[in-house]
Amino acid sequence: MCGIVGYIGDKSPEKFLIDGLKKLEYRGYDSSGIALKNNDKIQIIKSTGRISELEEKINETETIPCTLGIAHTRWATHGEANERNAHPHKVGRVTIVHNGIIENSNEIKNRLVNEGIVFKSETDTEVACAVMNELYSNDPIETIENSIKQLKGSYAFGILLEDSDKLYAVRKDSPLIVGIGKNENYIASDINAISDYTNEYILLEDNEIAEITKDSIKIYKDGQEIEKKIETENKTIETANKGTYEHFMLKEIMEEPIVLQRTLNKYKYSKENIMDLTKYDEIHIVACGSALYAGMIGKELLEEKANIKCFTECASEYRYKKVIYDRKTLVILVSQSGETADTIAAMRKAHEEGIDTLAIVNVKLSTIAREAKYHMFIEAGPEISVATTKAYILQVALLSILALEAAHKKGLEPNYEQYLQELEKLPNKLRKVLNDKDIFQKVGEELKEDKSAFFIGRGIDYAICKEGSLKLKEVSYTHSDAYEAGELKHGTISLIEEGIPVFAIITKDNIKEKTESNVIEVASRKAKIYTITNDEAITNHHFKYTVEKISDYFQPILVVPALQLIGYYTAYSRGLEIDHPRNLAKSVTVE
Ligand code: F6R
Repeated sequence: MCGIVGYIGDKSPEKFLIDGLKKLEYRGYDSSGIALKNNDKIQIIKSTGRISELEEKINETETIPCTLGIAHTRWATHGEANERNAHPHKVGRVTIVHNGIIENSNEIKNRLVNEGIVFKSETDTEVACAVMNELYSNDPIETIENSIKQLKGSYAFGILLEDSDKLYAVRKDSPLIVGIGKNENYIASDINAISDYTNEYILLEDNEIAEITKDSIKIYKDGQEIEKKIETENKTIETANKGTYEHFMLKEIMEEPIVLQRTLNKYKYSKENIMDLTKYDEIHIVACGSALYAGMIGKELLEEKANIKCFTECASEYRYKKVIYDRKTLVILVSQSGETADTIAAMRKAHEEGIDTLAIVNVKLSTIAREAKYHMFIEAGPEISVATTKAYILQVALLSILALEAAHKKGLEPNYEQYLQELEKLPNKLRKVLNDKDIFQKVGEELKEDKSAFFIGRGIDYAICKEGSLKLKEVSYTHSDAYEAGELKHGTISLIEEGIPVFAIITKDNIKEKTESNVIEVASRKAKIYTITNDEAITNHHFKYTVEKISDYFQPILVVPALQLIGYYTAYSRGLEIDHPRNLAKSVTVE
């Protein structure tokens, strides 16, 4: 989703701004721009397409000498992706970049249009900018404070004001940090944008206003200057570089054993960090996309193994539906970024009802990590590819551990010690699957011309299918659907025709035979069957890959990486932009 960087120091800001925007590319965007400021001169350069195109444009332009600038990557929400709508926006004496959505922008715009203001773009950002210009006074903090009182919705703003040579920033429900440098300071919507320049920063909270010069940072709340803590980002060994890999997605899949080991070590030696779920009568796992599908695996395990009633729900539905909290309930929020707008809203809904929340999250200083009552971190390190892989695996791993510990605590798991030992060996077992990547590359090449695919499985295998199907569709643009194997014949089987790929996931002992008979139904309609199983005895129709049979708790962790690789190699065979699939954003900070 949109990204912000800003610079104030004693150098020309262009290099920093472009570097920062490149680091934000992974979040997804369709246009970008920068604003440079020297006294009352503002120069704005914008471009659609890749950051390299903006960079070329800047290189070809005679830029004003300056040491202050802001920049933005835009993921279109209000108005199409063109230069007019790209940020920065300037109205009168105010220039801004903006992440988020101003919900009352139409209302404000109508009023301002009636007053004779002419808007150049279709964006809500230009409306916010016009509000700041309307309320402009010679006190910048007052200008910003009065302006945000008029705005409803979410925002992170980088702001340049005509009569000030300082950099300003403010945010609400959209992340923004102030980076601390030597003789220079920065703003960014994501630590990755500035991590080559500093690992120290201040985290802005809602409606805190930052006033920044090259050697000072002042933070104001309700007109008063406030003290803020300086945060430090500890770098993990994985860097935000591709290394020898062609794509982040492949690099991050191959990192899965290392990050799994790191996460297991963390929870192995400090069991008190594993939350006790047995004190709850009911669990709601609420998340979006892959994180929701990880949650579906958690639900299966919590119910089957630990006998705890559990529901999963996508956050965009949960936040608006009537939820009956009539038992002691825990809401588990699963999120890599910790900034997904719907998941944040679901968390706050639970808090309003006095319900406990547990965040399973990767980004430690994210909104969800900070606001949830309890949190357990996955240790994925930076995940750059828009399609999640290693973070998903760790989400599944933590949910599996939670289920195992809960089952043990309730005296329902006679093989607890054996499973703990199995857990120790899991990273190596996963490594073996990844070592077979050539096999999955061949499958990806076979799928190159296919327009459509289906995934079928039952129970936990169905949850695996949901993720396998999402991976394939989002990076390779193959239409793909996941079905409960027994449900297919209630309509969808009419789409099965000769040669259509159907992935069958068969790992669950008590329902293997049932899924096998569903496979025969589609095989007899000449579908091409790709089976992934843990059972040598399962029939090979067209392709079969057998993973080692391990306990139900951890089996998905050996199966999903195979599907991630198939998704990756299908996209690779088509020569697609795998790390930035069209229309997608890494963290979805708007509804
Ligand atoms: C798919 C993918 C998305 C995310 C979803 C939630 O590959 O990455 O479906 O899983 O947008 O994001 P987080 O986990 O950041 O809340």
